[in-house]
Amino acid sequence: MWQAIRHYFRGFGYRQVPVWYGSSVAVANQFETISRPLKFLKVIPNPYPFYDWIMGFHERWSNRAALRGPVLERTTNVLEAGVGTGYFLAQLVKGAKNARTISAVDLSPQMIFSAKNYLTKKDLLSSALLFVRSDCRRLPYSDGTFDLYVSSYLFDLLNDEEIDSTVKEMERVLAPDGHAILITMTTELGDMPWPARFLCRVTNELYCLGYHRGRWNGIWKFLFAGYAPHCRPIALSKYLKLAPSLSIEYTKVSHVSLFPVRIYYVGKRHA
Ligand SMILES: C[S@@+](CC[C@H](N)C(=O)[O-])C[C@H]1O[C@@H](n2cnc3c(N)ncnc32)[C@H](O)[C@@H]1O
Repeated sequence: MWQAIRHYFRGFGYRQVPVWYGSSVAVANQFETISRPLKFLKVIPNPYPFYDWIMGFHERWSNRAALRGPVLERTTNVLEAGVGTGYFLAQLVKGAKNARTISAVDLSPQMIFSAKNYLTKKDLLSSALLFVRSDCRRLPYSDGTFDLYVSSYLFDLLNDEEIDSTVKEMERVLAPDGHAILITMTTELGDMPWPARFLCRVTNELYCLGYHRGRWNGIWKFLFAGYAPHCRPIALSKYLKLAPSLSIEYTKVSHVSLFPVRIYYVGKRHA
């Protein structure tokens, strides 16, 4: 009994809960239909403006923090995996001024459609920007195609095996000396000062309590036009360390709403 309690408190805020929907393919399928069962928020014609508000508003700080720095201007071929409604992609297009290609990948046709609309509205479409429907675990590119791979809030909605195969696929499509910038909700809090670390452990734990087996979903689905939370805090470095040619150069902490987020800057070494 005491052992169980001790075990619980030791893992408090550090637990990586399993995803509630099985696989990421189910998430992409969900985006095809979530506009249909609108209940409370019938004023919203489709869920994407709402999703955009969640993603664009709450994730704005972490997305901007991730793209600060000199890497963007030097890149020529960029891939964003899991573009969603396109907020991060718009920042990327503005920053990667010298890119010859920017490949915007998502598994959901609805999300690609939505991202294309968003970038059209922002007047950011160009011949360099290519929208591609594909699974991040099996990308339609040859080895070493990209010098920059970015993704925000993708890895943290994949199940354990999918994270593993997505990291391996990222390693394959990155060129030697290429870089990756990855943003995830995080259980990796070790380098934070203790009061902040304690608060983050509490917020993570509360989030996971509701996330576990989709407990939040009844409420979220009713209130928020069918959108239900997919991301959960994970420890991405554990998976990155298994990729032999990748190394984590540095990381920084940010936040999405009350929850801690980690931004990873990863480099690919020569074989
Ligand atoms: C939480 S959203 C994040 C969107 C965007 N990066 C942002 O920060 O706003 C995750 C996106 O990943 C996409 N996705 C999920 N599984 C995927 C997979 N296996 N391959 C490619 N995209 C996937 C979803 O369709 C969704 O658009």
